[in-house]
Amino acid sequence: MSKIVDKKVALLTGGASGIGRATAIAFAKRGAAVVIADADAKNGEAVAVDLRERFGAHALFIHVNVTDPASVQNMVQTTVNQFGGLDYAFNNAGVPDGSTSLRVSTQGNWDRVMSVNLEGVWHCMKAELDHMLAAEKGAIVNNASRSGLVGVPGDAIYGAAKHGVIGLTKAAAVEFASKGIRVNAVCPGLVDTALTRAKFGDDLIPRSRLANPLGRMAQAEEIAEAVVWLCSDAASFVVGVALPVDGGATAR
Ligand SMILES: NC(=O)c1ccc[n+]([C@@H]2O[C@H](COP(=O)([O-])OP(=O)(O)OC[C@H]3O[C@@H](n4cnc5c(N)ncnc54)[C@H](O)[C@@H]3O)[C@@H](O)[C@H]2O)c1
Repeated sequence: MSKIVDKKVALLTGGASGIGRATAIAFAKRGAAVVIADADAKNGEAVAVDLRERFGAHALFIHVNVTDPASVQNMVQTTVNQFGGLDYAFNNAGVPDGSTSLRVSTQGNWDRVMSVNLEGVWHCMKAELDHMLAAEKGAIVNNASRSGLVGVPGDAIYGAAKHGVIGLTKAAAVEFASKGIRVNAVCPGLVDTALTRAKFGDDLIPRSRLANPLGRMAQAEEIAEAVVWLCSDAASFVVGVALPVDGGATAR
């Protein structure tokens, strides 16, 4: 296993489940200290214990609500206090669109998706950049989506939030590249996680056969590999990209 992120400090929101959990494991396997930040304390603590037991990793769970700027500030400050710095941040916490169509969507759907998926990323980037700018180094990866690159039926609010995540990513990338900080986004297609199982139910497997040229869902580990690479020095000249990891869904 390549040690491309050895001895770095990686902070992941939404690290208790799905893509965040798989990315926490991928960082720990490569020798990084990992902070799992999530609103779900039970599963988040369990991931931290797993990383310590299986990989001997420095791993810590921090409770966070990404919609609350004070909670986000605490997450970043605790990371720096406990591990002495912050090298990589994966802003990944997210929720699905609660509506099935723009026509039936509600103010409640809008408020929830925008506050977690877009405003939450903004809060996190602000707090992370404070520390990275002081250190004059760092890498941020935001989790957008295929729905941030193209229109997906039934995903209007979610798609608007994810297009916004890519906007935040590109603007920050060009603003802070000269300060030693790289900012990029990853754009997964359909991934087998709790989020997609809850959203699509029995329709998930048939839907995944049509979702992309590979004819299957991604496993969360396949997204995690892209995130680790984007954070690492192996991607030292990659700035401001919205990288599709979608089995070719947006290529056709
Ligand atoms: N699964 C997919 O097919 C897919 C595709 C494209 C993009 N994404 C994006 O990937 C990210 C992770 O999704 P996943 O599929 O792994 O979902 P998941 O439901 O398995 O994990 C999401 C995690 O985010 C946490 N979370 C939710 N709201 C939070 C809040 N306010 N504060 C802190 N933590 C919070 C949850 O507790 C959970 O642990 C999301 O941003 C999602 O939009 C997922």
